[in-house]
Amino acid sequence: RTPKPLSGKTIIMTSGPTHEPIDPVRYIANRSSGKQGHAIAAALARLGATVRLVSGPVNIPDPEGVSVIHVESAREMRDAVEQLLPADAAVMVAAVADWRYANEANEKIKKHPGEKAPALQMVENPDILAGVGHSKLRPRLVIGFAAETQDLLINAQKKLDKKGADWIVANDVSHTKGVMGGDRNAVRIVTHTGVEEWPDMSKEEVAERLAQKIATALQQLEA
Ligand code: C5P
Repeated sequence: RTPKPLSGKTIIMTSGPTHEPIDPVRYIANRSSGKQGHAIAAALARLGATVRLVSGPVNIPDPEGVSVIHVESAREMRDAVEQLLPADAAVMVAAVADWRYANEANEKIKKHPGEKAPALQMVENPDILAGVGHSKLRPRLVIGFAAETQDLLINAQKKLDKKGADWIVANDVSHTKGVMGGDRNAVRIVTHTGVEEWPDMSKEEVAERLAQKIATALQQLEA
């Protein structure tokens, strides 16, 4: 029996949104179902990879054959990912909140009649993908995602360098496309050598095809 193409390979993944606490009952979040990231994790596992997935809060089950660490905030996600290095590849799909509230309150912020609404001072969150892409323990293959509503390719190309990524999987999330929370996706794979345009397909098919492409790339890196 032929060995699976990714057996012996360890792949770190992130998926889902992050929740950034304001107080014990409120948070700021990005819109993300985790469907695409979880499908990729499952597809990589089917090809034999040891997949370590760090997931933000989602309403879908853990992908089959994948070990999952559940986190809430970007800082927790970053810490979990750092603990998992080194690895052969990293695929960062999570919709990480770019900012968090600077003064997380230990008690519920109360509403007082006649008082002004609170102004939420925000601070920047760590960029988890950039941290991995520029790490001393950088995996040989680092893949990020880019959800954009405008200038898709230009922004994806910029992201390659800024994040230290080998590939950026870019998708257009303009509201008309229904990607957010939906079951279909049309992506472009942006690399340092060019752009591959994939037709509209299910998130499962995107996952399958991406997993195959990752297997081929890791084999070539070894050759
Ligand atoms: O900069 P932008 O959020 O568009 O980049 C998207 C890519 O970077 C995704 O792969 C996402 O998982 C990753 N990212 C991250 N940490 C952040 C912001 C984005 O890992 N704080």
